[in-house]
Amino acid sequence: MTPRTVRNAIRHAEYQFFDELPPPSALLDEVIEGLTEEPKRIAPKFFYDERGSRLFEAITRLPEYYLTRTEMGLFDVCLPEVHDRFGEGGCLVEYGAGSTVKIRRLLEELRPRAYLPVDISRHHLEQSAQALHADYPHLSVYPMCADMTAPFELPEVVAGLDKLGFYPGSSIGNFEPGDAQAFLRQVAATLGAGSRLLIGVDRKKDIGVLEAAYNDSAGVTAEFNLNILHHLNSALATEIDPAGFRHRADYNEESGCVQMFLECVKDQVSRVDGRIIEFTQGELVHTENSYKYGFEQFAELAKGGGFQVEASWSDPDAYFTLFLLRAQ
Ligand code: TRP
Repeated sequence: MTPRTVRNAIRHAEYQFFDELPPPSALLDEVIEGLTEEPKRIAPKFFYDERGSRLFEAITRLPEYYLTRTEMGLFDVCLPEVHDRFGEGGCLVEYGAGSTVKIRRLLEELRPRAYLPVDISRHHLEQSAQALHADYPHLSVYPMCADMTAPFELPEVVAGLDKLGFYPGSSIGNFEPGDAQAFLRQVAATLGAGSRLLIGVDRKKDIGVLEAAYNDSAGVTAEFNLNILHHLNSALATEIDPAGFRHRADYNEESGCVQMFLECVKDQVSRVDGRIIEFTQGELVHTENSYKYGFEQFAELAKGGGFQVEASWSDPDAYFTLFLLRAQ
């Protein structure tokens, strides 16, 4: 590369923040709706305030939580192949911008021109996007604060670039299968026909391995699950006592998912925006499901979501698979 190209590339790298987050009132309505249903539930998007994001990063380093480690182990073989297919100079769209460890690997090996992370946690998103902007001077960074479970459009600035979506960590398993399919259809529409999606999927396996991953001995997962209440209390002025609940995670073999709950340890009454919500001892408040998929089962789901499997990479134990999908 000549010095002139380098200068131009640096000059053309941009940073622009796009804010599409729904107002707190809409979020509060959603919380109230979940807490007045039977059984009660709180949507998993409320896990990720700053402390929640930090706790989740701690989960990814736990000995029992094989997912992150296994997925990143697949990068060595997967990323050079994705590079060959996708080329350089496109736009990498990351769905949910957690830790930057994975994305740094992608940025270095795929060398896209633009990076567009979509996340609901504004502060965390902005911090990590700015760090990446500083570390990769040739890369334009367009963070978008949005609820990715609702439809949204990519900004004009990336309109001319080939798109590669990235949805790691088996977060797709946190949707009900029908919702996962609807989400994939939305992703296919957002990225456009012919675009690709690199997606991490946790596979069905031994129950003991699965339950340990969501019930670690150091109690980090419990902290993370309970943090959803701390977050609601501080962001939406709910008054639910986290000490009145404990973490539960069980694998439901029939539905093929690990189900996460907050179990109420005593009868209690809480206030949520002036409303009284009653909890009874032993009651389970659902916070998240983590579906595990068979290979063909996921390929079928992706097909219904508007994607064809172009390539895949699995570890020798078939604990985890990275799928490269192509939007039709
Ligand atoms: N996407 C992660 C998963 O399904 C989320 C997660 C990990 C999680 N541990 C958790 C959610 C504990 C709730 C509670 O693996």
